[in-house]
Amino acid sequence: MTREEALRLVRQNVKNENSVKHMLATEAIMRAVARRFDENEEKWGLAGLLHDLDMEIVDYKQNPEKQGVVGAEMLAKMGVDSVITEAIKAHNEATGKKRETLIEKAIFCIDPLTGLIVAATLVLPSKKLADLNPQSVLNRFKEKSFAKGASRQIIASCSEISLSLEEFVEIGLKAMQNISSDLNL
Ligand SMILES: [Fe+2]
Repeated sequence: MTREEALRLVRQNVKNENSVKHMLATEAIMRAVARRFDENEEKWGLAGLLHDLDMEIVDYKQNPEKQGVVGAEMLAKMGVDSVITEAIKAHNEATGKKRETLIEKAIFCIDPLTGLIVAATLVLPSKKLADLNPQSVLNRFKEKSFAKGASRQIIASCSEISLSLEEFVEIGLKAMQNISSDLNL
């Protein structure tokens, strides 16, 4: 599956624009972390871009264990590499899929980082990613009541891929800044 086909598939299945942006942000950070570890940037990017493909198909309040599994099954039928579909399952702990490979551990911690960075941007006067710095993100990370939905525990699992929180935030922020026009931030 090409990146273009993947994005088309996302647009067909995910109508909420903020969700699409979240998937684009996850893709950008996945690619950046793949580069950091000399991993397959294309596969990592696709996993990030496609990880919430089923978010409007699965009722994840009712069936949290299905979110990721349904999307992974759709993609497997289309012939998408199991490295990618397994990573998609692993992004959601409720699926029961254990994090084993680097890509699986990476997608897990990257997913909520995007939300923290977006929230930290939206409280800036300019609301622009360009004006956000890694230290502000780290400060927001420590503020427990800020953007509670972005699980600090999951973000901190960047230690599973041997990244310090500081480096992880720096890579993530830079990756999102590079696609700021796509994110409208
Ligand atoms: Fe997500």
